[in-house]
Amino acid sequence: MYETIHMLHSYLAYVALAVLFLAVVNAITGLFGNRIFNMGKDLRLSLFALILCHIQLLIGLILFFVSPSGLSAIQEFGMGGLTSAARLLAVEHPFINILAIVSITVGWSRHKKFVEGNKKFKSIAIFYGIGLLLILSRIPWGQWFN
Ligand code: HEM
Ligand code: HEM
Repeated sequence: MYETIHMLHSYLAYVALAVLFLAVVNAITGLFGNRIFNMGKDLRLSLFALILCHIQLLIGLILFFVSPSGLSAIQEFGMGGLTSAARLLAVEHPFINILAIVSITVGWSRHKKFVEGNKKFKSIAIFYGIGLLLILSRIPWGQWFN
């Protein structure tokens, strides 16, 4: 169970990060290029990034409860007893990534309310951009497929 969920979370991280990155770049170029928000390509890319992040959130939440590096580590060592590497996995990564996905979801919800293309692009660019930066700030780079 743990191995499967962990593997899913590790592989999906590549896809989710790549698509999120593309959605941010697309929104920034759309905003500065004064493009019309295309209900095919632009909408699909932003929605695809949202869905992948939500699936990653769901798998991450399950992982937090089944992984020895998640809740179990906090229960075993206590908040104060965690090393900085253990704190990254059990506390910082889950907490910051939940905030990141909230930001991405807010960006998606806001974009739907606007009619003008530049406001849609701006909402995606800012809120997805903040989400991407938050996620990148707390990836356990050292153990990802090491
Ligand atoms: C812990 C699990 C999840 C939470 C807390 C969550 C939360 C949310 C929230 C609050 C929204 C509202 C955004 C809005 O106002 O438009 C939303 C939208 C959405 N979620 Fe999730 N979600 C979760 C898991 C998933 C999963 C597993 C999927 C896909 C398999 C998914 C697909 C979507 C889609 C497609 C939308 C956009 C709906 C639309 O605007 O058309 N979510 N989610
Ligand atoms: C888009 C958001 C996220 C990305 C890109 C992401 C990515 C990653 C990556 C690359 C790892 C290291 C995997 C490895 O060891 O090979 C990891 C581990 C982990 N993630 Fe996430 N994650 C995300 C969201 C979350 C969320 C929301 C939670 C929990 C609420 C979570 C919980 C965990 C836990 C507990 C581990 C440690 C697993 C272990 O070593 O046993 N992640 N994540």
